Amino acid sequence: MALDVASIAEAQALVETLGDSISFYKVGMELFMCGDYFAFIEWLKQRDKKVFVDLKFFDIPATVGRAIKALSSKGVDLATIHGNDAIMTAAVANKGDLKVLAVTALTSLDRGDLDDLGFQCDVQALVLSRAKRALQIGCDGVVSSGLEAALLRQELDHKLLIITPGIRPVDNREEDDQQRVVTVASAFQAGADYIVVGRPIRDAVNPKAMAEKIQQQILSQFSCDAIL
Ligand code: C5P
Repeated sequence: MALDVASIAEAQALVETLGDSISFYKVGMELFMCGDYFAFIEWLKQRDKKVFVDLKFFDIPATVGRAIKALSSKGVDLATIHGNDAIMTAAVANKGDLKVLAVTALTSLDRGDLDDLGFQCDVQALVLSRAKRALQIGCDGVVSSGLEAALLRQELDHKLLIITPGIRPVDNREEDDQQRVVTVASAFQAGADYIVVGRPIRDAVNPKAMAEKIQQQILSQFSCDAIL
């Protein structure tokens, strides 16, 4: 779950409310700005939670390499970097046991945004090309919208972890900043290994019930194999 909240106290309260319904937490930029980010990561580890540091490092390769090296000593499970070759190379050389994920294209970007950034190719081509480079360079996985996950699975098999944000239990695109959204079921059908869910749980009237409902939706995707 993406812990996008405004204070460490709020994050701790949400983790306590969610209890066993969530075992993996993504801590990103908003919490980083609150202070005590690493003490909070420790607090999560003491509760046997897995931790995904989503700070999407984007800087000169030497700086990203050193940042990843420092992070790899903190017991974190996953971290994100931007998917440019030199950045990925520096991160992979310094990652140790930390699994590094390359961001392919933000799920909030649409065609118009990519035009503004000067990318003439379509989103799928951009995501696939970045994922292929990430694999060649030695990243552990990629962050990709559910709309491109199927193509990545088809082209790259199971050689990379696919982490899919932009999940909406129902399609409520109109009031949302995420453009390339999918449901829980379609993300896993497309081949995602993990999904990232933030606001649908955080903003639910009953966050724990929503988390459990999403876990049920995940389980139902795998129930045939489990029964056989
Ligand atoms: O609230 P919502 O479920 O949209 O949260 C999605 C989370 O995934 C946010 O924390 C966002 O930073 C992150 N993310 C994303 N798209 C990416 C990479 C990360 O939405 N490509």
